[in-house]
Amino acid sequence: MNCKILLINNLFFTFLTFLLSDPAEGTATTPWFFNRLQFQLLGSGIFCDNIPGLSSAQKKLCRNSPDVMRDVGAGIQLAEEECQHQFRHRRWNCSIFSYQSRDTTLFTNFISRGSREVAFIHTIASAGVVQSLLMACSDGSLSNCECDPSKKNGKSRDSKGEFDWSGCSNNVKFGLKYAKSFTDAKESETRDLRGLMNLHNNNAGRRAIQKHLQLKCKCHGVSGSCGVRTCWKATQDFAIIGDFLKTKYNRAVKVDTTQDSTGKLVAVNSNRSLRKGDMVYMDESPDYCLHNPFVGSLGTERRTCSTNKRAKEEEHCDDMCCGKGFVSQTIIEDLNCDCKFQWCCYVQCEICRVKKDVSTCKSKHKKLSGNNSTVT
Ligand SMILES: *[C@@H]1O[C@H](CO)[C@@H](O)[C@H](O)[C@H]1NC(C)=O
Ligand SMILES: *[C@@H]1O[C@H](CO)[C@@H](O)[C@H](O)[C@H]1NC(C)=O
Ligand SMILES: *[C@@H]1O[C@H](CO)[C@@H](O)[C@H](O)[C@H]1NC(C)=O
Ligand SMILES: *[C@@H]1O[C@H](CO)[C@@H](O)[C@H](O)[C@H]1NC(C)=O
Repeated sequence: MNCKILLINNLFFTFLTFLLSDPAEGTATTPWFFNRLQFQLLGSGIFCDNIPGLSSAQKKLCRNSPDVMRDVGAGIQLAEEECQHQFRHRRWNCSIFSYQSRDTTLFTNFISRGSREVAFIHTIASAGVVQSLLMACSDGSLSNCECDPSKKNGKSRDSKGEFDWSGCSNNVKFGLKYAKSFTDAKESETRDLRGLMNLHNNNAGRRAIQKHLQLKCKCHGVSGSCGVRTCWKATQDFAIIGDFLKTKYNRAVKVDTTQDSTGKLVAVNSNRSLRKGDMVYMDESPDYCLHNPFVGSLGTERRTCSTNKRAKEEEHCDDMCCGKGFVSQTIIEDLNCDCKFQWCCYVQCEICRVKKDVSTCKSKHKKLSGNNSTVT
């Protein structure tokens, strides 16, 4: 069983990851358009009914607008990459996104907890989908999304004075509405704590994008005098969203439902009330030190860590290896270098040998042997 598909079943983004997974990892000659061909296949619509894990509401959305699915998929990939970047030096490093193993217990146990990490995954995936839809909408590649009609003509004001709306402002309403209908489809039926947690985090993800929309302007007039300004709303770089959500993760709020009939989410052990932009979780996380399928922890054996005093604490070997020790060695790495794009269409690289000092957490299972290794 491919756990990617399982993950996706559990979240809302079922089918895309198998289409999105790297076709042939590590080969320098893989054509760069490979993934795009896979996206185009989605347009044929045959997938919507055959994809395991989609709710009937999601299947309907998929059939009605298969080209939107391409952007949903791209948004998920955006989220996955940003998640792995944000957590690259942490014990939990978001590799669960691409976890493939026969050990589905570990995976299922991870995803069924309402931990902070699961909260992060939901929030950033929801944000990624909105971001991707807004981007597609404003560059005109999405057929059923028009430029925001309310911001196409007319004037408005900001701190620098009056300006004209121009170009294609992101159709924010469309992006938010579509993303909501897709991401919330599974949760809307269930009103238990976990369902409410997911809905809250999906919404927090959408808000993060909305909050970071920026006004971009261009000056017109005699020799750049800026007599006339035209402006449009645009999304921010997703890395900024990633940083923002990481802060939300650090301040995530533990929640429970009210005991009365309203069954709303409330913050527990906290003096402040819950805000819409908060990332919320319900279960404490394991420490992720040891491999433990029952709590969904991969463990940190053989993870690389830093002995540099200036490194962040979480990256430092003592913290990463949970005090269980680490091994430092010099390795010889074969790296791709001097890569050149060849017409058409592949990338050709030279191989460069470099010496490198690396530290890795000790492993109970296999002794690290030898002093050279090859990494590409
Ligand atoms: C809540 O506020 C009280 C009084 O200000 C304080 O003693 C307590 O530690 C606070 N609790 C939390 C969880 O912050
Ligand atoms: C992330 O953590 C897992 C489990 O500890 C490990 O197998 C994987 O190599 C790590 N990935 C990166 C990029 O460090
Ligand atoms: C180191 O690499 C060389 C050539 O790549 C190989 O012949 C040798 O067995 C390796 N040594 C160890 C200890 O792995
Ligand atoms: C491996 O380590 C041994 C001693 O620790 C050293 O003599 C040898 O030159 C090293 N080999 C490489 C390829 O670094």
